[in-house]
Amino acid sequence: MLKIVKDNVASLREKSELVTLPLSKEDENLLKEMVSYLKKSQDEKYCQKHHIRAGVGLAAPQIGVNKRMFAIYYTKEDEVVEYGLVNPKIIQNSMKKVALKGGEGCLSVDEDHSGFVYRYDKIVMKAYDVVSKKEVLIKAKGYDAIVLQHEYDHLDGILYYDRINKKEPNKEIPNSYLI
Ligand code: CO
Repeated sequence: MLKIVKDNVASLREKSELVTLPLSKEDENLLKEMVSYLKKSQDEKYCQKHHIRAGVGLAAPQIGVNKRMFAIYYTKEDEVVEYGLVNPKIIQNSMKKVALKGGEGCLSVDEDHSGFVYRYDKIVMKAYDVVSKKEVLIKAKGYDAIVLQHEYDHLDGILYYDRINKKEPNKEIPNSYLI
């Protein structure tokens, strides 16, 4: 079972290193284990049994490995969104921003930090993906874009609450919308 690093640990705040490609078997297995952790975490009984929380994204620094890799797993309607991304890069972004009405959460953060976390509404991300075993170009919008940017931030040591306006956490900003 992977152990999640909490936000009182200094390494979570560090910038992670690029991963050597082609991927080593060790890195590949670790990333696959991260995807599998998320998948299992979405089973309520499994969570209760193992005292873990459900998550849709997990970045390598959150398990104490400061490498530029993260896993995503969730279902929306009938579609499964599943990635194990290595050396991701945001190569395009919209000017428009989006935020979750209810704010964000993170497996490494136990306390609640309420407030809007504004992120680009649309991004194009390029990465190597261990799930499809190839270079991918992901065009994401809204919730999908939020999840990718949340995980990407972990690779630079940034946590979601760093992006909340401290004085006015629920401030609405121009050229943005809430979902
Ligand atoms: Co997080």
